[in-house]
Amino acid sequence: MNTAPLQGIKVVDFTEVQSGPSCTQMLAWLGADVIKIERPGVGDATRKELQFNPDLPSYYFLQLNSDKKSLTLDAKTPDGKAILTKLIKEADIFVENLHPGAMDKLGFSWEAVHALNPRCIYGTIKGFPLSSKYANLKAYEPIAQVTAAAASTTGPYEGPDNIPTQSGAALGDSNTGMHLLIGLLAALCQREKTGEGVYVYQSMHNACLNLCRIKTRDQLTLDKIGYLTQFPQYPNGKFGDCVPRSGNIEGGGVLGWTYKCKPSGPMDSAEDANNYVYVILQRGAKDFELACQAMGFEDWLTNPDFNTADARDRHKQEIYARIGAWCADKTKYEVTEILGKAGVPVGPVISTKELMSDQSLYDGNTLVKINQGGEIGEFVTVGCPFTLSNYQPTYGPAPELGGNTEEVLTALGYTQEEINSFAANGTTKPVEAPAAAAAK
Ligand SMILES: CC(C)(COP(=O)(O)OP(=O)(O)OC[C@H]1O[C@@H](n2cnc3c(N)ncnc32)[C@H](O)[C@@H]1OP(=O)(O)O)[C@@H](O)C(=O)NCCC(=O)NCCS
Repeated sequence: MNTAPLQGIKVVDFTEVQSGPSCTQMLAWLGADVIKIERPGVGDATRKELQFNPDLPSYYFLQLNSDKKSLTLDAKTPDGKAILTKLIKEADIFVENLHPGAMDKLGFSWEAVHALNPRCIYGTIKGFPLSSKYANLKAYEPIAQVTAAAASTTGPYEGPDNIPTQSGAALGDSNTGMHLLIGLLAALCQREKTGEGVYVYQSMHNACLNLCRIKTRDQLTLDKIGYLTQFPQYPNGKFGDCVPRSGNIEGGGVLGWTYKCKPSGPMDSAEDANNYVYVILQRGAKDFELACQAMGFEDWLTNPDFNTADARDRHKQEIYARIGAWCADKTKYEVTEILGKAGVPVGPVISTKELMSDQSLYDGNTLVKINQGGEIGEFVTVGCPFTLSNYQPTYGPAPELGGNTEEVLTALGYTQEEINSFAANGTTKPVEAPAAAAAK
């Protein structure tokens, strides 16, 4: 039995770069038939971004477009529009993330697609919500991070590096793709009842802001009392009128910090920037007792400066200093082992090199290897991040530019003659400039 949740779902994928493709990548891994529309001769911009070899598609493209089909199509030509119209008439989901207004200009707005196929769900990604004064701006990852209060609250809160800082995680890009995915899956469930497709509008701003909810929590608290107990500035430092950058605080009510450890091996040399561990002291008395016992800090249990969570918030600098000294002569793994055994929330800081070398993560979903074939061969990517008990995605190669054009057009009912004419008139292949053609 085929247990792929989206088996039989047809997706017309008019997305590019990262946000949209990360969404349609998940649709493909869940079993949908995803046809990626790409400009003839050009394709998704990421094909040629950050390449390791100028003649091969980049890992950027490969990691976001596995298991899709590629149809090269110029949707500005009459034939291109006719082909896209046919595809939409058979589609369950149409997804796009072009710049604001581009789809309307091409003639495939939500209204137009809905009129062509009322069952088709329309997913769209833009930078900002429609209500925003920035709704017409183009957007990339950092634009989402800086405008959704992610950057203003990230990074060192003092010193020369106290500037708005980007997260290494793709809060504006892949995170937006995952948010759109939720919307599309909800729309599919809804269509079961209504029989009709809906418009799912997902902005990068909203996706990023959704992950910054706790920063709005902090702003509300700051407005009420003028300080935030979880920040190192509390109780003696100054707070302004907005949430400061959070350095390495945990973010909730528990007391967490990053501590330097001694080097631990070839992946963690003295020069390595990642000889660190993150340690959290929970608020509960029992949890605190376990942590104190594990580190030999039993004196804290009877010291009123430390034996309540509120007191610890007021003395966090002393706590950072003492745990820091305790960690300094241990590796991040030794600290993790000692504290982990005692039930203290702890984790080593892991580099990308170390992460991708951890064989325990090649469990079928966490990190996966895809065989692209040819000169590229096998490469590693991050798999479907959740596990279904009765379904395991398979992870196949990304398509060549236009690699499925004939197949898709044939399935739509076009004859070989028509397919040839689409290639010759620039609809599915670039038209050669006369000089270049003559030179042959
Ligand atoms: C990513 C972004 C900034 C790129 O903007 P861009 O360089 O203008 O590129 P776009 O692909 O959007 O549009 C370029 C043109 O290609 C056209 N185009 C794209 N695919 C096409 C196709 N298959 N056939 C014909 N034309 C096509 C578009 O219609 C557009 O034409 P226009 O400028 O005449 O309107 C912009 O698409 C954007 O803001 N998207 C929404 C937010 C987003 O997802 N950002 C990316 C995060 S990873």
